[in-house]
Amino acid sequence: MKQDPAKKAAGEKAAEYIKSGMTIGLGTGSTAYYTILRIGELVRGGMQLRAVATSAQSTQLAMEQQIPIISFDQVEKIDLDIDGADEADEQLQLIKGGGGALLREKIIAAAATEMLVVMDASKLVKRLGKFPLPVEIVPFGWELTFRKLMALGAAPVLRKKENDVFITDNGNYILDCHYGEIAAPVALHAQLNSIPGVVDNGLFLHYATRLIIGYEDGTVRSLSR
Ligand code: 5RP
Repeated sequence: MKQDPAKKAAGEKAAEYIKSGMTIGLGTGSTAYYTILRIGELVRGGMQLRAVATSAQSTQLAMEQQIPIISFDQVEKIDLDIDGADEADEQLQLIKGGGGALLREKIIAAAATEMLVVMDASKLVKRLGKFPLPVEIVPFGWELTFRKLMALGAAPVLRKKENDVFITDNGNYILDCHYGEIAAPVALHAQLNSIPGVVDNGLFLHYATRLIIGYEDGTVRSLSR
């Protein structure tokens, strides 16, 4: 994979918040990738950690890095979740799910005491919505869910991978919804999740406790609540 200095700087910086004994949530994507590599170094250097991962892809990477992955019945609490984002605003509201892992990412973020978001500076926006909002839906009757979203002005597009429908780790589909700008994210979140067939959407409104923003020159800036 081609190195990205901004993502690498943010991803590696986040690992500095990890303390021995913690249970860590491992995010998904090309920025969380750098965090997982750094955590692997910490573990191989002797730090005692346990982790849960937000996708099959991150589970695989964590295992290659010898990071102990525990099953959910062993999880009492998640101390720190470190994940990427597709967009973030200065109120620490996020759009996630560009990689298709939004549901597992949200379950883990909701269970975590703190959520660090690792991202390059291009993802910091004044208002969410330029990035199409991923909405995870069940395959059953998906055309009806699609039409419902269309009627609500979401301009949904069924996500494809090459010529096939993209399937999430949970066996679901994703509709990428084009709003342009999201003026009322709390209301939109509630509206989307009240539609039968919608499993969840990529608005993460109250989870992030800190953004770690990486720049091309390798510097980072941090924004917290
Ligand atoms: C996956 C995600 C990712 O965190 C998001 O897409 C950011 O990815 P990247 O760091 O590769 O830009 O939400 O579902």
